[in-house]
Amino acid sequence: IRLALIAGGMSDEREVSLRGAAGVAAALSSEKYEISRYDPASDLARLARDAGDLDCAFLVLHGRYGEDGAIQGFLDLLGLPYQGSGVLGSASAMNKHRAKTLYRAAGLPVAPWRMAEPADARQPERLARELLLPCVVKPVSQGSSIGMSIVHTQDELGPALALAFRHDAQVMVEEYVRGRELTVSVMGGEEDLRALPVIEIIPDSRYAFFNYEAKYRQGATREVCPAEIEASIRDQAQAYAVAAHRCLGLSDYSRTDMIMAPDGRLYLLETNTIPGMTPTSLLPQAAAKAGYAFPELLDKLIELALA
Ligand code: DAL
Ligand code: MG
Repeated sequence: IRLALIAGGMSDEREVSLRGAAGVAAALSSEKYEISRYDPASDLARLARDAGDLDCAFLVLHGRYGEDGAIQGFLDLLGLPYQGSGVLGSASAMNKHRAKTLYRAAGLPVAPWRMAEPADARQPERLARELLLPCVVKPVSQGSSIGMSIVHTQDELGPALALAFRHDAQVMVEEYVRGRELTVSVMGGEEDLRALPVIEIIPDSRYAFFNYEAKYRQGATREVCPAEIEASIRDQAQAYAVAAHRCLGLSDYSRTDMIMAPDGRLYLLETNTIPGMTPTSLLPQAAAKAGYAFPELLDKLIELALA
């Protein structure tokens, strides 16, 4: 199979992408795949020229122009199949405001949130009135917690909004649900979509939350797979991840992050359409527990792309 491994890109998660791609390139069997690498930051014209001689693309891209439908549309125009979600699903999941609106319409639980205006950074009183503190300030279309803050007092809200607006033109503020962080990957086609084992993420106590450093520094976070939670909560988390994947219109695989409150209730945070593929990443760990070693996981995703 002549495979275009597409990684790098223009988003703030470029480094995460390149680290993931290194692992993916090393794991793909050279007997099965003839790999050419492309970085959207510099190689789109070459990719367009080569497309006729390629069978499939494998995307290890995150964030803007990688996970938001843009590259998916480009590949659609080139007629090159790729793993994961198409244009609409990718765009819907990348925008956390859209995703939460779709979750809510599907009856899935989410914490209350509001969209912020740039003026709110100077006058955060409105948001502090409409939402309970603490809250989480998030750029709407970012990954890996970039530009995100947890805010405990109204005084912290203004600077947190200003930071988030430096990363995105759209910013949301969400009530903070204190609890345990769970993440659930799903994989498969329309017919045989299934949830992988639930993972609990336990960031080292020096991190206030599962932030960028906790996500990517070796040893900064402990992951427990399968999570040590009640069977009924596990089943619900898995059902929610499948429902989230379907309500966003996703394909092949995704990973939904959620919080389990102390009373056992779950709240959906977001769904990643190209989940991280670095050595410390979550979906590969869950897949391993389900019997897919990393090379088999990649084979399976490429099979889904070509189906
Ligand atoms: N956004 C990162 C790559 C993840 O969700 O794994
Ligand atoms: Mg993400």
